[in-house]
Amino acid sequence: MKTALVTGSTRGIGLVVARDLARDHHVVVHGRSEEAVRAIAASLPSATAWVADLGAASFEAPALDSLDVVVHAAGVIGGAEVERTTLDDWRRVFEVNVFAVAELTRQLLPALRAAEGTVVTINSGSGLTAGPGGSTYAASKFALRALTDSLREEERPNGVRVSSVHPGRVDTDMQHELVEREGGEYDAALYLEPQSVADAVRLVVDLPHGATVESLSLRPTRRR
Ligand SMILES: NC(=O)c1ccc[n+]([C@@H]2O[C@H](COP(=O)([O-])OP(=O)(O)OC[C@H]3O[C@@H](n4cnc5c(N)ncnc54)[C@H](OP(=O)(O)O)[C@@H]3O)[C@@H](O)[C@H]2O)c1
Repeated sequence: MKTALVTGSTRGIGLVVARDLARDHHVVVHGRSEEAVRAIAASLPSATAWVADLGAASFEAPALDSLDVVVHAAGVIGGAEVERTTLDDWRRVFEVNVFAVAELTRQLLPALRAAEGTVVTINSGSGLTAGPGGSTYAASKFALRALTDSLREEERPNGVRVSSVHPGRVDTDMQHELVEREGGEYDAALYLEPQSVADAVRLVVDLPHGATVESLSLRPTRRR
């Protein structure tokens, strides 16, 4: 059976991606809460748990000889205008959204190469365009895009595929947090369902190995 590791799979997009991949993969469920990770792993047909804080100074990836898929879904939302964003805010967002993705991928590369695996980064529309008030988040996602693009070219000779998935706003805790901060009403109909992002990841993963989805952008049909 193929193996997939999904970061941030205790909630939101990561959880739905993990459930979807669990249909035909052994899934390494990841999160910060041991209780939550174990409960989700126990609910899947074949899964193991990996607990790690990706914002920590260091962490150790699970020991795997072979890894078919890694989906980097863990992420944090940024702060406000540059004027009100501290150095700590910048560091907190980049630690999780960029540095942890680079470091985890580095540690997993031998296992990914062994399987000729696929790396999927859950980026964002904010990794393609940036507006006012979103500098830390957008800058981290632009950086993630650059990391993903470089890695793709580096790993081509090793048969490892690297894909960047850019969803617009998705109906998860992250959007509730954002709407609360921005003010206004939460209308779930204006957002993508997490399952649509899981479907996009599935498309990326299931494409015959000779083809790579380099970048995939999806937006809510009825967005504002
Ligand atoms: N929601 C959107 O509109 C949207 C749109 C485009 C892209 N994205 C991206 O999609 C990804 C998932 O977002 P989401 O909406 O599912 O967010 P979410 O509901 O807020 O969930 C975030 C996930 O990231 C994990 N996480 C956060 N900080 C972590 C840390 N320091 N160490 C380990 N795990 C950590 C969380 O774990 P805990 O449960 O332990 O907190 C949780 O599983 C993110 O990269 C986000 O930028 C989201």
